[in-house]
Amino acid sequence: MRTRGYAVVPAALDARACAEIIEATEEGYRSMGSPPITGDGINVIPLLVHAPRLAPYFALPAVLDVLEELMGEPPRLVHASVRISDEHTSAIVDWHHHYAPAPAHAETRRFMERILFNIYPVGTTAETGPLLVRERAFNAPFEPPPAVVRADWPGQIEIVCPPGSFVFMDSAGYHTPKRGTAPGRRYCFRSQYQAASNTTLCDEDNDCDPPQLAAYKAENPRFAALVGPPREAR
Ligand SMILES: [Fe+2]
Repeated sequence: MRTRGYAVVPAALDARACAEIIEATEEGYRSMGSPPITGDGINVIPLLVHAPRLAPYFALPAVLDVLEELMGEPPRLVHASVRISDEHTSAIVDWHHHYAPAPAHAETRRFMERILFNIYPVGTTAETGPLLVRERAFNAPFEPPPAVVRADWPGQIEIVCPPGSFVFMDSAGYHTPKRGTAPGRRYCFRSQYQAASNTTLCDEDNDCDPPQLAAYKAENPRFAALVGPPREAR
C-alpha cells in the first residue's frame, strides 16, 4: 500500500461467502425496485440499508487490523455500496480518486486518511471487467488528472484477480473499472473507511448505521465502533 497505493489479496473469501454477497446484493437491488442497469451501472446504496445482512463483511477482523495500521488509528466506516454492471454498461468509467483533503496534503501526511476496501465476488478479470489503477507511492506528488477521462491511461496497472478477492486502495490514487468481455453481472462491493478521529466529510459518505443493525451492533462491538461517532485522536 505505501509503495504502490493499492494491495490485492487474491481469493480471500470462499465460494459460499461470494454467493452470500451476490444474493444479498440482488435482494437489495430488488428492494430498490430493480432499476435498469445502464450507464455506469447501478449502485445498491446505502448498502447497509438495502442489505443489512452484509454488515459482517465490513468488520472482517484481519481487514480492520490492516486499516488501523495504515491509518494510525482504528477505522470508521463512512461508505458502503455495491456497484452492479454488466455487458450493457459503460466500456470504461471516468478515472477518479476519492481524496477529500487538498491534494497537496497527500505529499506530507503521516497516515492514509481514507482507504477504499473492495471485494469482488465474481472476480475482476478480462471477462468480468478488470480494475485499472495508477501506482502512487505514499507521499508522491499528487497525479494530475488524465487528458481523457474515459480511455486507457498509458502506464495504468490492470488488476486481475479471482472471485473472492480483496483490493485495498489509498483514496489518493486514481482508478476506474472497465467492462468485461463476457455477458453477466459484475459486482464491486465497496467500502470506505476513515481514521476514527477524522471528521472530514465527503459527499460519498452514506448511512452505515441504520436502525435495522441495532441487534448486530449489540453482538459485535467492533462493528459498533466502526459506525459510532468520530473519536478524539490518540
Ligand atoms: Fe472509485
